[in-house]
Amino acid sequence: MKIALVGYGKMGKTIERIAQSRGHEIVLTIGSKNTEDYITENIQKADAVIEFTRPELALNNVSQSLKAGVPVVCGTTGWNESVPQAAALCAEHQTALIQSSNFSIGVNIFFELNKQLAQMMNHQDTYQVGVSETHHTQKLDAPSGTAITIAEQIVQQLERKNKWVKEEAHNDEELAIQAFRVDEVPGIHVVTYHSEIDDIEIKHTAHNRDGFALGAVLAAEFLVGKQGLYTMQDVLFPRK
Ligand SMILES: NC(=O)c1ccc[n+]([C@@H]2O[C@H](COP(=O)([O-])OP(=O)(O)OC[C@H]3O[C@@H](n4cnc5c(N)ncnc54)[C@H](OP(=O)(O)O)[C@@H]3O)[C@@H](O)[C@H]2O)c1
Repeated sequence: MKIALVGYGKMGKTIERIAQSRGHEIVLTIGSKNTEDYITENIQKADAVIEFTRPELALNNVSQSLKAGVPVVCGTTGWNESVPQAAALCAEHQTALIQSSNFSIGVNIFFELNKQLAQMMNHQDTYQVGVSETHHTQKLDAPSGTAITIAEQIVQQLERKNKWVKEEAHNDEELAIQAFRVDEVPGIHVVTYHSEIDDIEIKHTAHNRDGFALGAVLAAEFLVGKQGLYTMQDVLFPRK
């Protein structure tokens, strides 16, 4: 398939390599220095757009592609509140969007484990739950979109928590996410249930960016011919 890359930084370059290794062709590459090339005529040369840029640019970039009728895989984090606005364009222009805070297959398996574990802990109230994430120092958003997804899953499943907060919980109903920034770390996420007796911990460590890039390319392959808003769960765990 023909792919347009919007954002040609660490992720854009990794996606290019992985997409080419799967036989796809990159027909358009947009970075901050050639945004004038991001026009309908060029977008429509691609079967799908893969967008990894910056939080403040995502809604506009995604919308432009959807309005051109071209499906979009968006990995940019930190624009969750605007996703419904973009999703509405899918119906209007009969195309599709996948937005995920984390395209890695391993993390999406972790998400499922996290939900199940939280449900099991409903009757174990001696355990205190916490979420932490560690990323490289150039990461703009904190806590990470992945940590927010993890925390939202826990809040949904675990009755004794009703919201997540950054850094420090002020009461028992708040779930704290701690964010650490350390050079060169592609991404570590940990959920810990701590008690006086023992700790239960689930942890995902990304060794490099290839897992995110492969997931994004798989998502683009999945999206062609679809209409609506999809998630990585639809790509990785399709219902029979
Ligand atoms: N969902 C996931 O699985 C996942 C995984 C990793 C990262 N991410 C997210 O993906 C995003 C990008 O991460 P990254 O590590 O690739 O960042 P990065 O290395 O900083 O790359 C961002 C790119 O966006 C480009 N850009 C800036 N302004 C632009 C514009 N107006 N139009 C088009 N491109 C523009 C930059 O171009 P210049 O270089 O010319 O400035 C740069 O190439 C972040 O939000 C990050 O949190 C998501």
